[in-house]
Amino acid sequence: MHIQVVSLATGLIAVAQVVGAAPAAKCKPKRNVELGPRPEYLIRDMDDGPLKDKLSSCLDQEAKTSKFSIGHRGGAVLQFPEETVESFVAGTRMGAGIQECDVAFTADRELVCRHAQCDLHTTTNILVTPLAAKCTTPFTPAADGKPATARCCTSDITLVEYKTLCGKMDGYNASATTPEDFLDGTADWRTNLYSEQCGTVLSHKEFIELVDDMGLEFTPELKLPDVEMPYDGDYTQEMYAQQMIDEYKEAGIDPARVWPQSFVFSDVAYWLAHEPEFGRQAVLLDDKGNTPQTFPGAIANLSFYKESGVQVIAPPLPYLVTTDENDNYVPSEYAITAKELGFKIITWSLERSPPLKRVAEEGDYYYMYMLNGTKHDGDLYELVDVLSREISVLGIFSDWSATVTYYANCFGIL
Ligand SMILES: *[C@@H]1O[C@H](CO)[C@@H](O)[C@H](O)[C@H]1NC(C)=O
Ligand SMILES: *[C@@H]1O[C@H](CO)[C@@H](O)[C@H](O)[C@H]1NC(C)=O
Ligand SMILES: *[C@@H]1O[C@H](CO)[C@@H](O)[C@H](O)[C@H]1NC(C)=O
Repeated sequence: MHIQVVSLATGLIAVAQVVGAAPAAKCKPKRNVELGPRPEYLIRDMDDGPLKDKLSSCLDQEAKTSKFSIGHRGGAVLQFPEETVESFVAGTRMGAGIQECDVAFTADRELVCRHAQCDLHTTTNILVTPLAAKCTTPFTPAADGKPATARCCTSDITLVEYKTLCGKMDGYNASATTPEDFLDGTADWRTNLYSEQCGTVLSHKEFIELVDDMGLEFTPELKLPDVEMPYDGDYTQEMYAQQMIDEYKEAGIDPARVWPQSFVFSDVAYWLAHEPEFGRQAVLLDDKGNTPQTFPGAIANLSFYKESGVQVIAPPLPYLVTTDENDNYVPSEYAITAKELGFKIITWSLERSPPLKRVAEEGDYYYMYMLNGTKHDGDLYELVDVLSREISVLGIFSDWSATVTYYANCFGIL
């Protein structure tokens, strides 16, 4: 899928300015950072040129935590089950300076870290536990050419019940005739290496404690409820948005360490109005331009968000980058507009896609407006470089934190 965007970038953007996050408030990373073999693999795969030379020159540099590197669902999701202690610890070891918990609520209105309120059937072992009986839609085997189905929500169970589940790699087998078979759907370029035992799921409060202990910053995302609000008669969207902030206040966390996110403009507006210290760093996620038809409207809406007081905008990677006539990655009209309006920009998510050779052949959401520049794995660092030096993004969510941390360390981004 392509879009015709006239890029105004050429010649306009000369020097990149690295805009640092707010000063760290009693927050100091407590782990040695190790980046493993992947950055070197990616660099060796790059096209020759100054960027490859620069990144190669840092191979023996000491690795450090960077807030430019944001752990997506923990920051190790390429290999570890998402939003588990194991993923948070692994992403932190790879230098993520900010950690993400996607927030959903349970039947007893406790907050837990899950990417969606109703993804327990694909991200946990719930279907092979007694709790399967509580699922909104129980497991139905594949039959007569129809796929297997199930739907299990955090709001189907209590926090105590939730804590008995095991996190696993996200995915399912649509041909499954048994719940056991349904659980297995890991993409062939990911792995079950750390998923066979039991990924440790956690509440939002436990996430705060874990990330605070590791000395990092927090980016909780208020997930859109999959049930009608107000839930159970009187639990409103505002109460839910407030509860997420209250858990940081109760834990004594400095708001300067918290980056609350939502795709819903009214959630961000709520924090700006009622919790300005947290609203100052509230991140408006943007997914309103997923087709060439809707993309211009998303760009046009940026000035409205700015006037409404939103400081941080977070579009997916393809909104920010397009290609020029030589198939090089360049800033898109969206990126240029967001920069001109003075937004802080965060983007998602690197390392979420299949190997780039496959992306080039089959297409992929995260590269949809820049496919012409996407050919092989080494292109990842060309993308990060445009995001950093030409678009001045504040941070990049990644499913494998080492990739972004390495770039940040090499360019001295804290
Ligand atoms: C998917 O389920 C079908 C039917 O239960 C089974 O034959 C097949 O081996 C499963 N595939 C995987 C990858 O588990
Ligand atoms: C503009 O923003 C509002 C508020 O989030 C949203 O409802 C609307 O769909 C957006 N319009 C476009 C074209 O993106
Ligand atoms: C991608 O390349 C094709 C073939 O060269 C060209 O027709 C198309 O316009 C390009 N798309 C973009 C978005 O530049």
